[in-house]
Amino acid sequence: MKRWLIAALVLLLGKLRPPRALPPGRPVREPDRRAENLTFLLLLCAMAAAAAFIAFYFANPDTQFLGATLGLAFVLLAAACLVAGKRVVPQIEGVKERPELEHPFEQDEVVAVIAEGGEGVSRKRFFLLAGGGAAGLMGAALLTPALSCGPEANRVLSRSPWNRGRLLVTELDEPIVAAGIVVGELVTAFPSGADKEDIASPVIVVRVRPDELDLPDDRRGWAPEGLIGYSKICTHAGCAVSEYRYPSYGPTAPGPAVVCPCHYSTFSVTEGGKRIFGPAGRALPQLPLAINGDGQLVADGDFSGRPGPGWWGVRK
Ligand code: FES
Repeated sequence: MKRWLIAALVLLLGKLRPPRALPPGRPVREPDRRAENLTFLLLLCAMAAAAAFIAFYFANPDTQFLGATLGLAFVLLAAACLVAGKRVVPQIEGVKERPELEHPFEQDEVVAVIAEGGEGVSRKRFFLLAGGGAAGLMGAALLTPALSCGPEANRVLSRSPWNRGRLLVTELDEPIVAAGIVVGELVTAFPSGADKEDIASPVIVVRVRPDELDLPDDRRGWAPEGLIGYSKICTHAGCAVSEYRYPSYGPTAPGPAVVCPCHYSTFSVTEGGKRIFGPAGRALPQLPLAINGDGQLVADGDFSGRPGPGWWGVRK
């Protein structure tokens, strides 16, 4: 206990008092300016990379950019620490047998040794500012993604670009003509004028014979001429549902179904997207469709349920 009190006192004195003169005969180490400049530069670059991570998070949260900027910030900070540790901070080791410190005057020598540790480093204030700035920005960058866990995330995942009359278009923004989809074909469509990257945007449209349909009662009229639309995002873990199984010999085969290639969740297209196989916990949300006066496919409302991975509504 006594030792800890003395050590704390020594550190405090070391902060408050001006540095003591080195013992006579001990060589004064010259600051390594190039190493200091390199450390500053690395710290500034680390700050810039951390700031870029935060900017990308808000402006363009592309995971590639986010990973690259945060990784770069860590690498630069590590490099700054390495250079500072190897070439800026004096590398002096000394071992001296000494009795336990009992008298105040003995502390002077200890204070001188501690003060000596700072010799050879010029512009300490700059170092403190640059190091503190880098640590602060890195901390902010690490905390920023926590915003994705708040109520905003729920709002973003809940919104849908689909509404009555919204035209279905291809990836090239060309309207989808109903007559152009044949039985057994799967077409990917997007809402006209909306962000195609939105989790609720992509849908798959397939055609079955109208007499095959077995939709729930409250979805009568959702599949004009046997054309049915579903969210393309698998309700298991969010892969793109992209396989369409349309048996050509009905009596011995299961009915038409779409399949997710990731873990083979299979959804019946004639029964409202009901899961018939695989780990998905709920049906594919169905999009009510209609055909406008030009023979083009349009939405007739919003999805039957929330599109996207089903961790918020498994087995409901
Ligand atoms: S993501 Fe589709 S089955 Fe797992």
